[in-house]
Amino acid sequence: MAKETLSITDNRTGKQYEIPIEEGGVIRAAALRDIKTSADDFGLMSYDPAFTNTASCRSRITFIDGDKGILRYRGYPIEELAEKSNYLEVAYLIVKGELPDRKHYAAWESNIKTHTMIHENVKKFMEGFRYDAHPMGMLVSTIGALSTFYPEAAQIHDLESRRLQTRRLIGKVPTLAAFAYRHTRGLPYVYPDNSLSYTGNFLSMLFRMTEREYKPNPTLERALDVLFILHADHEQNCSANAMRSVGSSQVDPYSAVAAATAALYGPLHGGANEAVIRMLVEIGSPKNVPEFIKGVKEGKRRLMGFGHRVYKNYDPRAKIVKKIAYEVFEVTGRNPLIDISLELEKIALEDDYFVSRKLYPNVDFYTGVTYQAMGFPMQMFPVLFAIPRTSGWMAQWAEMVRDPEQKIARPRQVYIGEQTRHWTPIEHRPEPTMREDAVSDQI
Ligand code: CMC
Repeated sequence: MAKETLSITDNRTGKQYEIPIEEGGVIRAAALRDIKTSADDFGLMSYDPAFTNTASCRSRITFIDGDKGILRYRGYPIEELAEKSNYLEVAYLIVKGELPDRKHYAAWESNIKTHTMIHENVKKFMEGFRYDAHPMGMLVSTIGALSTFYPEAAQIHDLESRRLQTRRLIGKVPTLAAFAYRHTRGLPYVYPDNSLSYTGNFLSMLFRMTEREYKPNPTLERALDVLFILHADHEQNCSANAMRSVGSSQVDPYSAVAAATAALYGPLHGGANEAVIRMLVEIGSPKNVPEFIKGVKEGKRRLMGFGHRVYKNYDPRAKIVKKIAYEVFEVTGRNPLIDISLELEKIALEDDYFVSRKLYPNVDFYTGVTYQAMGFPMQMFPVLFAIPRTSGWMAQWAEMVRDPEQKIARPRQVYIGEQTRHWTPIEHRPEPTMREDAVSDQI
């Protein structure tokens, strides 16, 4: 039988090394450190900007096969969960590893709902934001501020404390998100209504006006629930990595979730759905699509909502969102921007530029048009991503905290700067000459 090892010859020394291959295709980067030219040599390092080929952890939460377009939470295919489950049940699955039975589901739901209220002081500092503050900026700050209300959250090695903070965060993030939205509208905040479902209550906190009883439209409530399922986790993406990296300093989970939310804010991550709508509005009409695609191919622009670090096939979530979009349009009326999306998708999927780079629609391509039809302003789109992702972040964080192999995240660098130089008085310094390769370093 073939050996599960990798043989390396260091041509500098002629020495041979044998490195074990684990998990069917993984070598430990630390094994490279043994490959040295002398006893005081640091040893070899791997250089991997943006972690494109580095596993930072061993995880049991989410599985993605990017080439085949497969996504599973704890082994369950995303398609089955989106069709048959609801967000709270999926959050339980992600956080605890198994689907709940009736008794555990009821307890979980009740525990989350117990924590939907926020301290009145949070409301007060929410009021301090400018009228036009981006709700995602408000969310980042208020989630971080929660750590000051729950100092016991610093006990990250205490299981009961971790459970409590998880319930609090999943319960409170929709309330913070809704308050941020109401703030931008100058509307009074609506307190949680725990007689409603998780998503129904969120819709109530967003859209309730003077009605005595708010009844969410069941199609829109279900659509939002499915969108929440699709966004609940996505293995080691930028924000999960931020959650783990910041959490590895053993800071409390509110601070780590604030960092993860900040990572999600960026246009290459959770901000992409907002960027997609801006792009569609700019294109204006399906007839302008070929011209736009030409600009993308010339490298002037990116086609937002397309491409993915892991999926080199159609993102399975995008397929489900496309279907949801039409269900939502049945209630809200068709969002005319969908025609531009369809034309973009059609042209891009036939074009060699996109085909050769394996660029397909990702989850953000159709979420924006769906959210917009549901009445959400663009600035709320990344917020709608952050709410369900909170369960994923907490699961990733708890897995990291319990993992005996994990330590504070601290990558190495390849230093390419100056070697030792000596300080000279200012009057003796020559006119600075800027090296060409240093120009990009300047801020
Ligand atoms: N439009 C045009 N060209 C693209 C795009 C795009 N959207 N995405 C990648 N490319 C090209 C890129 O220019 C490069 O071409 P070349 O090899 O000629 O230089 C090649 O494809 C590989 O791209 P990359 O930037 O090395 O790929 P990456 O894995 O670093 O980037 C990505 C992944 C998602 C940041 C990128 O595809 C992108 O910017 N997409 C648009 C933003 C977007 O939709 N983001 C949401 C991601 S899904 C939600 C989430 O998980 O947060």
